[in-house]
Amino acid sequence: MHIDSARLYRSIDDLGRIGAYTDADSGLQGVNRLALTAADGEGRRHVVARMHALGLTVTVDAIGNVYGRRPGRNDALAPVMIGSHIDSVPTAGRFDGCLGVLGGLEVIATLNDRNLATERPLVVAFFTDEEGCRFGTDMLGSAVATGRLPLEEAWSLTDLGGKRVRDELDAIGFLGDAPVLVAPPHAYLECHVEQGPILAAKGLQIGVLSGVQAISWHELTIRGTSAHAGTTPMELRRDAGVAAARINLHLREMIASGRFGEMRATMGCIQPHPGLVNIVPGRVIATVDLRNPDDAAMGDSEAGIIGFYDRVAAEEHVGITWRQTARTPSVAFDPDVRARVAAAADALGLSHAPIISGAGHDAQEFARICPVGMVFVPGEFDGISHNPRELSTPEACANGVDVLLRVALGLAE
Ligand code: GLV
Ligand code: MN
Ligand code: MN
Repeated sequence: MHIDSARLYRSIDDLGRIGAYTDADSGLQGVNRLALTAADGEGRRHVVARMHALGLTVTVDAIGNVYGRRPGRNDALAPVMIGSHIDSVPTAGRFDGCLGVLGGLEVIATLNDRNLATERPLVVAFFTDEEGCRFGTDMLGSAVATGRLPLEEAWSLTDLGGKRVRDELDAIGFLGDAPVLVAPPHAYLECHVEQGPILAAKGLQIGVLSGVQAISWHELTIRGTSAHAGTTPMELRRDAGVAAARINLHLREMIASGRFGEMRATMGCIQPHPGLVNIVPGRVIATVDLRNPDDAAMGDSEAGIIGFYDRVAAEEHVGITWRQTARTPSVAFDPDVRARVAAAADALGLSHAPIISGAGHDAQEFARICPVGMVFVPGEFDGISHNPRELSTPEACANGVDVLLRVALGLAE
């Protein structure tokens, strides 16, 4: 049994038109469905309509997570859940998260086409603000659903404009009334684009996820003194921009030292104030994103960079305050589900290998409450992602969802 590749890809294109924009750098069409914006609301309504059309019973919980349920022959059994997200970074392609959700719906459509029932119920879910770009913390909805983050705490997070999660859920009509804590599914599955170059470089069709690496995010506020660029002697400056630059370069030096394993680090946001050519920046808002497959090395790197914040503050005569906006440990996925993913790829004649995820995923939240498995498919152009160039071919997407279908069926019987 195979899924309908053309129908799957059409559904990815259809959702990708919601929140579409023309990227100024590349001229390509990108996607901007930042969490809980009007475009996210429109995307959500589109997917909910599709769930209804497939006969699913839809519930929305109080953090805006959406669950579409197909009953099982034995409907009292815990369901097999297929999930991911449809919110996007503001400069996204069509695939990140969407493949997992629309792939789940394609699994349902394939079973509906054949009038096939499963012993366990099947649930297709999408979770609120997986990306974390707007409210500062990633996997927000799935973290609440699985009990890591209390609902009140999630509701009270604000974006840079001071808008609260709860109000923004309400504004787009997705402040649901279902309880947020999800009953542990029998298993949770997610199909996702790799978002990296490894599968394509090795000529592999499927990645069998071994787990996800640790993630640590800091938001820094650096306060110096704003002053005239032409008249202020260098030795009298308290330049918040220089302090931010030194932190960014120090991250590179930490990686080059080889002392922190496979550490990755990114200062993705650097906002100087007032941000003008002839003014010493008096304030900078900056972010630090650390990743590491090894928890101990992650801890060491966090201690290292936090110590450096103090050193730069003293040497540059600036004030640095920071807060932890996201922190998740490395997660290992269930060996049985991994074996099922590999076996499904073998049965379909697809080449595969184990791979660890560099990106965060809703699956890692579910790994705390049930067995989890993930399927990766390769992307074009070195697997570029969080970018309008993100692209996985119809064949790659169909391969991943064929694997998803087989694994879901096996678990649901
Ligand atoms: C989610 O896309 C992440 O930043 O890993
Ligand atoms: Mn994603
Ligand atoms: Mn993403």
